[in-house]
Amino acid sequence: MGIVVLTMKAAVIEMFLVLLVTGIHSNKEMAKKIKRPKFTVPQINCDVKAGKIINPEFIVKCPAGCQDPKYHVYGTNVYASSSSVCAAAVHSGVLDNSGGKVLVQKVAGQSGYRESYSNGVQSLSLPRWRESFVVSEGKPQKGVTYPSALTYSSAKSPAAKADETTKAYQKPSVPGTTAQPVTLMQVPGTTSAEGTHTTLPKPSPSAGSATSSPRPQPVGHRSRELGDTDMWKPGSVLLDAGFVPNEETSTQPLDPASQGDPNCKVDLAFLIDGSASIGSRRFRIQKQFLADVVQALDIGLAGPLVGVVQYGDNPATQFNLKTHMSSRDLKAAIEKITQRGGLSNVGRAISFVTKNFFSKANGNRGGAPNVAVVLVDGWPTDKVEEASRLARESGINVFFITMEGAVEHEKPYVMEPNFASKAVCRTNGFYSISVPSWFSLHKSVQPLVKRVCDTDRLACSKTCFNSADVGFVIDGSSSVGTGNFRTVLQFVANLSREFEISDTDTRIGAVQYTYEQRLEFGFDTYSTKPDILNAIKRVGYWSGGTSTGAAINYALEQLFKESKPNKRKLMILITDGKSYDDIRIPAMAAHHKGVITYAVGIAWAAQDELDVIATHPAKDHAFFVDEFDNLYKLVPKVIQNICTEFNSRPRN
Ligand SMILES: *[C@@H]1O[C@H](CO)[C@@H](O)[C@H](O)[C@H]1NC(C)=O
Repeated sequence: MGIVVLTMKAAVIEMFLVLLVTGIHSNKEMAKKIKRPKFTVPQINCDVKAGKIINPEFIVKCPAGCQDPKYHVYGTNVYASSSSVCAAAVHSGVLDNSGGKVLVQKVAGQSGYRESYSNGVQSLSLPRWRESFVVSEGKPQKGVTYPSALTYSSAKSPAAKADETTKAYQKPSVPGTTAQPVTLMQVPGTTSAEGTHTTLPKPSPSAGSATSSPRPQPVGHRSRELGDTDMWKPGSVLLDAGFVPNEETSTQPLDPASQGDPNCKVDLAFLIDGSASIGSRRFRIQKQFLADVVQALDIGLAGPLVGVVQYGDNPATQFNLKTHMSSRDLKAAIEKITQRGGLSNVGRAISFVTKNFFSKANGNRGGAPNVAVVLVDGWPTDKVEEASRLARESGINVFFITMEGAVEHEKPYVMEPNFASKAVCRTNGFYSISVPSWFSLHKSVQPLVKRVCDTDRLACSKTCFNSADVGFVIDGSSSVGTGNFRTVLQFVANLSREFEISDTDTRIGAVQYTYEQRLEFGFDTYSTKPDILNAIKRVGYWSGGTSTGAAINYALEQLFKESKPNKRKLMILITDGKSYDDIRIPAMAAHHKGVITYAVGIAWAAQDELDVIATHPAKDHAFFVDEFDNLYKLVPKVIQNICTEFNSRPRN
């Protein structure tokens, strides 16, 4: 017994000793492990944007004081790489204003970034950016080596690398396609077209019979009076009837090593119409047109790059921007494009291009303007205006070329009248070309090339004048008085006059308030400048108390709720006195909802209230004049600040 106990004791002690020794040993090991990769955390300044740093994952040390509106942040949780790393870390709550370490991980570009106010930082929205990042606590993660020194991007042109990846894109990718494309290069007499007949969706013309009246089914897309049957009849003589304009422009020899025309550095997407109703003959004219444009453009890395998307029911990328990087290659590839068939869903195609086409992976260079040229036969079978606006708002310059648009008796079938002029920037005709007949399409080659290369004029897309929903919130309290109220309305009219107004550009709405509130007119009510100015003139003075807080809430509910997504929302609140109710919470709600709020105070208005109402920083968004007669002086200041704020947001 005694011996047994003793041996057991000894065993326990021995075990204890072993544990103790190994414990010490492993502690030492750990100590060594921590010491070994002596990783020094690199330091950056508040203004360093994530996009400047090439490393995909890194830890940096931020200084104190990055919680300053001059360091811009775009997005919420996921930030566009155009954001300040350190300010984004403050916004997300990883750091406070005293600085510290932050772990940064790059992620893919997003199609939109949401603005929000958090931890004292107002982040901004951004439609689309090529790269994003997320931030987290600056602790090294297991198994990851972090750089002690960061690699900064210096060269402006990321294009040099594009060459190696060209091969991977040789095959036109056709995402989401199910329908077999129609074989276009059919030789008269072959039977291949018979096979395609069944795969083509509506509208399917009954073989051989050319209808002569517009067909309202399925979506009012036109059938052809002549020649819409040629694709169904392989032996059709129309194929070789000499309709293809003989535009041989290949007189100047193409340098195979051409770097492209440096005076026309644009990233261009052609959206071509592959719908069934176009017919194979017109499809061929369209390809010829494309080839002529490509020939005239002198494509290359230092010049224009061109990709092609063909649409029918659904769009598909034929080539992206880096698939073919010379005019010669691209021309040869265009020759081989086959028609998809289906409807003419132009809006869907434009949305597709906005979301997918101009990505870095597709060869988008960032420094070159994005241009989309949309070719439409007749009219689209879906809606295009909204899709085009979103495209323009994400920085794409949209051109429309409409061939044989609706004639008078066909107009009822067009879903959106004047779609071509409404879908593009302004209506001065620069962005739209209407071609009366397919046979005269070749005459548009030079005008189009000239326009898409006019990079100074490609300022289209968004400007501070054409991209917002502007809601006026007007104090109609008794202290204002009838005469001064007229002055306020003049002020509202003078500001409105500065914008480009239409249902696709800037829209104006107005609310008047006292104790109560009323909607004078919403964003949808009027769509021309004269109508807006008239409506402002007609606003009747209400007279009553001053519940500014309730008015802000009302404007958010009744006015800005109707604002389109992705539109900039501007609230311009004009008051002459102190509010009877709380403004803090309503103002915060406005800021959280991304409504950029300007506060204009007159006479008895309180500066501290104006500062609370106004979007941060208040000095750029709050204004004060001591009397109504001086209100006019604020017009240029308010406009200037709206544009400065707008221009401080980066665009692709
Ligand atoms: C509005 O513009 C008109 C014409 O330029 C000017 O006479 C008037 O003083 C302006 N009023 C205000 C309040 O801006």
